[in-house]
Amino acid sequence: MAYGRILVAIDFSEPVSSLVIEKAAGLAKCMGAEVCLLNVVEKEIPILMAKGFLVPSPDRRVIEKAFNKVKEESVKRLEEMAREVAGKWGIKVLPLVEVGVPTEVILNTAQKIEADLIVVGSHGKGGIEKFFLGSVSERVAMKAKVDVLIVRAQHE
Ligand SMILES: Nc1ncnc2c1ncn2[C@@H]1O[C@H](COP(=O)(O)OP(=O)(O)O)[C@@H](O)[C@H]1O
Ligand SMILES: [Mg+2]
Repeated sequence: MAYGRILVAIDFSEPVSSLVIEKAAGLAKCMGAEVCLLNVVEKEIPILMAKGFLVPSPDRRVIEKAFNKVKEESVKRLEEMAREVAGKWGIKVLPLVEVGVPTEVILNTAQKIEADLIVVGSHGKGGIEKFFLGSVSERVAMKAKVDVLIVRAQHE
C-alpha cells in the first residue's frame, strides 16, 4: 500500500516548514506519489498587522490592497518552493494558495484533490513552547478522513 497524492500544509514558519517538506518529499519519492503544497492565507486584519501593514484603516481599499500583496507574496514563495522541491527530489509538486480558515481549507482541499495523506507540522507560527500541538495540526488530525502525518517541530 502506497500513498498516491500527498497534501502538504505549509505556513512558512521555520524550522517546521523545511522539516515538513523534507519528510513529505522523501515519502513521495519512495512511493511515487505527487505532492501538493498548500498555503492558506487568512483574510484577517490581525494577520496584516503582524506583517507590518498599517491597518485597521477605515478604508476598505487599503485593507484589500494590503491583503492582495500578502497573497501575491505567498504565491511567489510557494511557487519557488515547489520548483526547488521538484528539482531536488525528482517528483511532481503542485503549489496551491487558498484564502480562508486554515483547518477548513486544508480538509476541503484534501477531499477536492483526493489526497490520501495530509502532512502538517506539529507547530507553526504560534511557536513550539505553548502547547503540545498547534490548533491547526490538532484539528486536522481529529477531523481528516485520510491519514495524517504530524512532523515534530524540534526544540532548539
Ligand atoms: N495558514 C496555514 N496554511 C497552511 N498550513 C498551515 C497554516 N497554519 C498552520 N498550518 C499547518 O499546521 C501546522 C501547525 O500549525 P498550527 O497548528 O497553526 O501551530 P501554531 O499554533 O504553533 O501556529 C503547520 O506546521 C502547518 O503544517
Ligand atoms: Mg498557526
